[in-house]
Amino acid sequence: MRKFGTPFSSAIFVCTQKRPDGHPKPCCANSGGMALRGELKEMVQSKGMDGGVKVFTSGCLGACEHGPVAVRYPDGEYLLGVTQDDLPEILEDLAKD
Ligand code: FES
Repeated sequence: MRKFGTPFSSAIFVCTQKRPDGHPKPCCANSGGMALRGELKEMVQSKGMDGGVKVFTSGCLGACEHGPVAVRYPDGEYLLGVTQDDLPEILEDLAKD
């Protein structure tokens, strides 16, 4: 194993988990996770933050009933029920890290 620092100071993992139709558990793909991840990534790039902030696509983050779900680092903070309206605040928080 080799260890070295990441080239970004903060990261957000956006759940885009898709479950088969009829699955008893909800999934973030059905609650807007994919669109949210795309929009967040575009906003990070358009604001020139892509050097310090990384937007990752994630599988299930374990809070499916509260989707769409994201987790922000380095704070390790869950973001539940994220909407488009929340994106400016999320970007602001990511910029502080
Ligand atoms: S499917 Fe998104 S948190 Fe589980």
